[in-house]
Amino acid sequence: MTTLTHQKVSEYYGKVLETKKDLKTNACCSLDKLPAYVKEPLKLIEDEIQMKFYGCGAPIPLVLDGMKVLDLGCGTGRDCFVLSYYVGEKGEVVGIDMTDEQLAIANKYLPVQMKRFGYKNPNVRFLQGYIEDLASLDLPDNYFDLVISNCVVNLSPDKESVMKEVFRVLKEGGEFFFSDVYADRRLPQWAKEDPILLGECLGGALYWKDFERLSKEVGFIDPRVYACSKIDLLDKETSDKIGFAHFNSITYRLFKLKELEDACEDFGQVAEYTGTIEASPHHFVLDNHHVFEKDKPMLVCSNTASMLEDTRLKKHFKVKGDTSVHYGLFTGCGEVPVENKEQGCC
Ligand SMILES: C[S@@+](CC[C@H](N)C(=O)[O-])C[C@H]1O[C@@H](n2cnc3c(N)ncnc32)[C@H](O)[C@@H]1O
Repeated sequence: MTTLTHQKVSEYYGKVLETKKDLKTNACCSLDKLPAYVKEPLKLIEDEIQMKFYGCGAPIPLVLDGMKVLDLGCGTGRDCFVLSYYVGEKGEVVGIDMTDEQLAIANKYLPVQMKRFGYKNPNVRFLQGYIEDLASLDLPDNYFDLVISNCVVNLSPDKESVMKEVFRVLKEGGEFFFSDVYADRRLPQWAKEDPILLGECLGGALYWKDFERLSKEVGFIDPRVYACSKIDLLDKETSDKIGFAHFNSITYRLFKLKELEDACEDFGQVAEYTGTIEASPHHFVLDNHHVFEKDKPMLVCSNTASMLEDTRLKKHFKVKGDTSVHYGLFTGCGEVPVENKEQGCC
């Protein structure tokens, strides 16, 4: 199962990089761009974990209390500990990574982090393994409410298996909310094999449209862009090699919902945010097309209605109407190339 790509990537994260300062792009989000509710628990997280954080976004969605969450390619565990803080002692967080050195740090600080959060029983565990084969770690079907990942899927030599595994382990109504690097075109084979480009999350980046096609093929019918920001190639050698392509860090949210359609359809449904999410009392951002203001009714397509009423978001929305009368195509969620959708870093 271990491939040459796995070996190169593991070597890069386990041995080549010492801290995030060694990275050759600005994909790693700076602290000031993070949402306040992510910054808060970071104050309680060990410096060594944070210095070895190599993510490219903030895939920490709202509404986490009591949830079961899986983090693919958890590294030294920064996001797992943020999730641990928000899911609470009754929730569960599982972090998976293939690299010994990364997991050793995550496990070293597990007891101290649990103590700081005031938990008697740990709600996080770290497992060593490959994200392409979650079955070999005994992760069951339809188990997790949420799967997250931060700058990892691009590194996988078999992205289709990763996506199929995520779909398998998510419950109906569950969500894959994750940040990764995408290219504005299909990259040549040599770029995929270059160990530095690969390790820097550039060589293995998918053309974003191919990623959306793959998502739909495995069952995530309506991928939504939550945030998108341009990545700058800071290092001249890297830019000379791959500067013909443009890269974005994108946070997608993909819901596992049976009823979604392949286009946005209008059934006259209306959704209203109740303002009951503590970290977001005035509005709720579903994606970069949908910002719901508290108590303001908004016309939505049937897919958006389902994302709000058939998921963990349900208790924070009033959705009126059903799909019994059809009014044609819904134009409010029109497709736009991701390059034109830039919206904040994280
Ligand atoms: C860019 S780092 C991101 C780490 C972590 N998510 C963070 O934000 O700090 C990529 C991580 O994914 C792990 N990884 C890459 N490919 C993997 C695979 N196929 N299976 C399991 N882990 C993988 C690496 O070992 C590394 O720790």
